[in-house]
Amino acid sequence: MKYFLDSAKLDEIREAYHTFGIDGVTTNPKHIMNSGKPFLTAIQDIADWIREEGLDGKDTFPVSVEIDPYIEKANEMVEAARKIAAISENFVIKIPCTPDGISAARTLENEGIRTNVTLIFTTSQAILPAKNGSLFVSPFIGWKEANGEDGKQYISDIVQIYKNYGFYGKTQIICAAVRTGRQIADCAIAGADIVTAGLSVYKDAITHPYTRQGIENFRNAWDNTAK
Ligand code: E4P
Repeated sequence: MKYFLDSAKLDEIREAYHTFGIDGVTTNPKHIMNSGKPFLTAIQDIADWIREEGLDGKDTFPVSVEIDPYIEKANEMVEAARKIAAISENFVIKIPCTPDGISAARTLENEGIRTNVTLIFTTSQAILPAKNGSLFVSPFIGWKEANGEDGKQYISDIVQIYKNYGFYGKTQIICAAVRTGRQIADCAIAGADIVTAGLSVYKDAITHPYTRQGIENFRNAWDNTAK
């Protein structure tokens, strides 16, 4: 399973790449706002960093960039997506899961511009993006679980549907808004292709008090061993 970083902050992207070897990035208008930069500057800075690291290319290190959320018509979504896609070949365009969004994503994929159909909250919403060839779909497991729903079953159902119809691995499932290590494991057990989470979630997920206690125990043993 791949790990994407859900952030538009360059220092976090750098750290997550060099520490954990993350495989890509997802952004959204909230992350861009939190970067403190204007939209175009934030995404241009990410594109420049990709080039500096030698990660540029259509098949390496995808970065999802969301279109202006006020755009509702398919033709306007396509127009906005083309402009963003022209900045970096690593950019994948995030489009909301609406009828116009599906239509725009279909047009863009036919033009060779990759799409990530986002804001997916039901299993049936995940089917049409796959039928229309989107590279990614983003079911929001964290929001579902915050609403008391079963995120693991939700992802597992999408995986099963994709396997039933030959979409599995073609349209890749990004489990989005992942908040905990338990959710990361649930997504992996369900067979998701990718998780996307903030840096602190990845740090917390590899932390356990017994790991720290074990290091202390072994330090004591080390100190009491004849040298
Ligand atoms: C995923 O692609 C989204 O950017 C993200 O997970 C949205 O949810 P959040 O902002 O609540 O984490």
